[in-house]
Amino acid sequence: MLIFGNWKSYVEKKEDAKTLMASAKRLAGNTKHTIVVFPPAPFISLLASTRSSVGVGAQDVSDVSIGAATGEISAGVLKQAGATYVLVGHSERRARGENAERIFEKTMRALANGLIPVLCVGEKTRDSNATYLQELRGELDAIFSRLAPRDRLKVIVAYEPVWAIGKTAADAMAPADLREMVLYVRKVLGQYMPEKVAAKAKVLYGGSVEEGSARGLAESGVSGFLIGHASAEPASFKALVNALP
Ligand code: PGA
Repeated sequence: MLIFGNWKSYVEKKEDAKTLMASAKRLAGNTKHTIVVFPPAPFISLLASTRSSVGVGAQDVSDVSIGAATGEISAGVLKQAGATYVLVGHSERRARGENAERIFEKTMRALANGLIPVLCVGEKTRDSNATYLQELRGELDAIFSRLAPRDRLKVIVAYEPVWAIGKTAADAMAPADLREMVLYVRKVLGQYMPEKVAAKAKVLYGGSVEEGSARGLAESGVSGFLIGHASAEPASFKALVNALP
């Protein structure tokens, strides 16, 4: 499985970042799973190394490239710093006003610079008449419909229901519900790539994955997890990875 640790802004100290990375490397040496960490951007070059068993990604990327864009961190800079992956459209970015147009631009910038986009999608709430499925489909359609066929195959989808983010294991989605949602995401992707390819597309789950919820969720057909708070502390991340089948 792909085990992606989104450190968000939990990690402020360089020493803490190094400790977490060292711990992730020990884990990577003892597990069949692929581990990638997403530190705050200034730590990327400190932690990334082509020889490392742990990949490094960025939490966001600018929608503009080279030029007069003060404060932006372009895909080219992230690539140079050593990032391999980049999150686009995380709900915490969407909550700050990021719309589909900008998420699409970010995805394009990432692809143009050889970064693998991890497109985060997910409904804000659940309702009994399944409008959350339309919300989810809309977020996927907005990006996939505009990508060239070969680029569609490069995007990893992270399904993160907003209502499940930042809580505890008990608040994560139920494994049976996740199984349905993963099938649904792959069904939507089937419109944009051959169905056989879509059936195996990389779909991650994120939202309160912790030691206590990881194992059950891992058996729902997902390709891996995007882990927030539990990845930002060595002991909780280790316990989570060790709980995986
Ligand atoms: P969480 O965050 O694991 O803290 O719920 C997941 C995410 O937002 O990527």
